[in-house]
Amino acid sequence: MLSAGGYLPADVVSNDELARRYGLDTSDAWIQERTGIRQRHLAAPGESASSMGIKAAAQALERAGVDASEVDAVIVATATPDSSFPATAVRIQAGLGITRGFAFDLLAACTGFIYALSVADAMIRTGQCRTALVIGAETYSRILDWTDRTTCVLFGDGAGAVVLRAEEGESGILSSHIHADGRHGGILHVEGGPGSTGGTGLLRMAGREVFKHAVTKLASAVDEALAANSLAREDVTWLVPHQANIRIIDAMGRKLHLPRERVVVTVDRHANTSAASIPLALAEAVGEGRFKPGDLLLLEAIGGGLTWGATLLRW
Ligand code: COA
Repeated sequence: MLSAGGYLPADVVSNDELARRYGLDTSDAWIQERTGIRQRHLAAPGESASSMGIKAAAQALERAGVDASEVDAVIVATATPDSSFPATAVRIQAGLGITRGFAFDLLAACTGFIYALSVADAMIRTGQCRTALVIGAETYSRILDWTDRTTCVLFGDGAGAVVLRAEEGESGILSSHIHADGRHGGILHVEGGPGSTGGTGLLRMAGREVFKHAVTKLASAVDEALAANSLAREDVTWLVPHQANIRIIDAMGRKLHLPRERVVVTVDRHANTSAASIPLALAEAVGEGRFKPGDLLLLEAIGGGLTWGATLLRW
């Protein structure tokens, strides 16, 4: 992984402002205590997964010192594409002026970025591409039910991107481990969609159920990733988790015996940006120069499907 970039919409909405704006019976204290979220960024009219993804990708390329013309694969994880097709990835490819290689979207909800990393890594290893942009880009504000306080306070919009390149050496993705169990699809899903109701559909979630799955499934994915590489939790330098809830993030930090300063946390300012949350966290940490060569990064996520997974990478 050469570098990471991110983009967040300009409209920063605090918990109090959100409650006022949408007439919600909630409070800053309730939201912060249960989730750690203080604010989120919301896309402006006209902003979309592709427009934000282009900005995030441009920053990632600039930081990596890679020209867009060198990119031969664009893979975008999103549950909120601009439209059913062309894929958001193809729109981003065009927006960056890339005319070669391939581009496609992938849908695994909040685990989308881990899935996309796994796919990109496999394609690089099998020689199908050399330089890949892997992007998570989401506009969940468009699929939230703004009258449902149990879900609409939890999410935000944004995009993050990383540049992967086939290179010899110690750094890079060690392995990814992805899972799905569709029996639990009903506890976190979008009701309706282009192929059923013809509309966009709205997000529904049984929060407590999701929470229970999150803690056990993330722990098992983390154990699996470490065991596959004969590594111990003490070897992990940084936890870069999906940013859904500070209580889940803290539980994973405790499991790995990592102090808070070794866990990249953005949920307080970004809320849950679904597939964009891990690349946005990577982008922030890269911007602050937090990762050093040789650091071992552990990425993990769970989301609708259910889907879950983990990636280990050497910086
Ligand atoms: N403001 C104020 N009160 C709220 C509220 C809000 N925004 N949302 C729910 N409540 C109320 C509920 O109505 C309920 O009231 P009641 O006891 O009178 O019925 C009470 O708070 C408790 O609701 P509950 O859903 O049991 O709360 P919780 O402690 O489970 O916290 C979540 C809710 C969503 C924060 C928590 O379940 C969670 O984080 N789940 C995981 C979600 C997640 O991470 N999803 C993304 C995965 S990718």
